[in-house]
Amino acid sequence: MLPPPRARVRAECGKDATNAMETAAKDTIDRALAALAESFPARFEAAETEQALRDENAKILGKKGELTAILKELGKAPPEARKAIGESVNRLKRDVEARFEARLAAIAKRLRDADLSARPFDLTLPPRIPVGRGHKHPINAVREDVIEIFRGLGFAVHDGPDVELEENNFGKLGFPPDHPATDMQDSFWTTGGHLLRTHTSNIQVRAMSLQKPPMAFIAPGSVFRRDDDATHSPMFHQLEAFLVDERVSMAHLRGVLAEFAARMYGPGTPVRLRPSYFPFVEPGAEVDIGCVFCKRADGTRAGCSLCKHTGWIEILGCGMIHPVVFEACGIDPERWTGFALGMGLERIAMLRYGIPNIKLYFENDPRFLAQF
Ligand code: PHE
Repeated sequence: MLPPPRARVRAECGKDATNAMETAAKDTIDRALAALAESFPARFEAAETEQALRDENAKILGKKGELTAILKELGKAPPEARKAIGESVNRLKRDVEARFEARLAAIAKRLRDADLSARPFDLTLPPRIPVGRGHKHPINAVREDVIEIFRGLGFAVHDGPDVELEENNFGKLGFPPDHPATDMQDSFWTTGGHLLRTHTSNIQVRAMSLQKPPMAFIAPGSVFRRDDDATHSPMFHQLEAFLVDERVSMAHLRGVLAEFAARMYGPGTPVRLRPSYFPFVEPGAEVDIGCVFCKRADGTRAGCSLCKHTGWIEILGCGMIHPVVFEACGIDPERWTGFALGMGLERIAMLRYGIPNIKLYFENDPRFLAQF
């Protein structure tokens, strides 16, 4: 049943009014979409950095962005036009996204191109900020000095491994199997009768097993013992010297020692031998030099805490090579004789430079190293 005529007129009028509003809303949306479609490519082009581009993109597609705002107006458009508008919005959104990605890639490429065409970084250029110069480690400095001295006396340098056979480190040097030095407590054993060499005397065995006398070698190298305190480090450095020939006597040994002391610690440095025991020498001795710390101008010694007020400081062990060692290496001890000596380079450097603590060598503090 139709409503009464008046009411019908009113309803018709309302409908017309609604239609007009919806049409206006659609026009607004269309214009806004067209304007955005027109303007966004230039806005993206204007963004120079990735961040600026992302900000611009958010202004359009973000939650409070322009396209989102347009989409919110969709409900005001005539129902029959909404589908088409929705499609236009989606198309524009895809265009915006595609442009965004393209521009993002272009910005990245420009950065990369700039990087690639920039002047290459030249590692060989001197630094702008002054950099402190490195220094020779005192152990290396002293080793070079000792090598130089012995080379001047006709000794050649012999090398050898840090991991050694028990035979070469102990057995052939005349250590009895139960010698305390062979103990687990004192040496670093690896596997299968190998150990980290406890001294450079293994090179005597190696050299004499490889070649026949006469020979004169020095052998600098790292050695390892289970010791760790103010005066001992589990790894330290030794230098062995030995000479084998006919009629070599203790006088030759003494002469070499005097020459070494004079060249290392100054002319006239007194040397004395004290009897001592090493399984691979007979006789054996420990060598002292006149204390370098309390030496007076006239050459006499005042005595100090470092030499325990004796005026003498121990520097190395030495002796005449034991016939047992020659025999173990296939050398006739009736014909050949020789001497050997072994010094700790940390100790030689301590005395030379007045270094108080062995730990300083291994800390590599530049303030320490810069002093040499
Ligand atoms: N090898 C001995 C040590 O490490 C030093 C030494 C070498 C002694 C040569 C005598 C002869 O203590």
